[in-house]
Amino acid sequence: MKLLVINGPNLNMLGLREPELYGKNDYAALCELIKKACEGIEYEIYQSNHEGDIVDKIQQSYGKVDAIVINPAAYTHTSVAILDALKAVSIPTVEVHLTDISQREEFRKHSFVSLYAEKTIAGHGFDGYREAIEYLKEKYN
Ligand code: DQA
Repeated sequence: MKLLVINGPNLNMLGLREPELYGKNDYAALCELIKKACEGIEYEIYQSNHEGDIVDKIQQSYGKVDAIVINPAAYTHTSVAILDALKAVSIPTVEVHLTDISQREEFRKHSFVSLYAEKTIAGHGFDGYREAIEYLKEKYN
């Protein structure tokens, strides 16, 4: 099984970025957690601050990746393009958010990616990634 973990804009700034919301652990620590959770399967972690690059990455995954974990970050709330790319490749996907987007500003309450993702995990911090990976391993490995 090959799993792709996609992280959207500003997630590379974890640790520095609004620590009261996102915690004090940095992006390298998140990658370490993902690596441990992916024990026994093939995986790739991809981070980009650019919507089109994320669309390209999803398109390139067609036929190569069995499941996707995605935190589209700010693009969650704006990107029809990322939603359409996921629909195009039809790869099983779990959406993850560090914070509970349903309890934040109004503009964060809507997620385009949720219209495709088979599961959304929000508000569990870094652990949400572990839960998403375990769910996909259990179902598709
Ligand atoms: C986020 C929530 C988004 O609203 C925000 O733009 C992010 C991170 C989260 O993980 O909680 O960048 O996706």
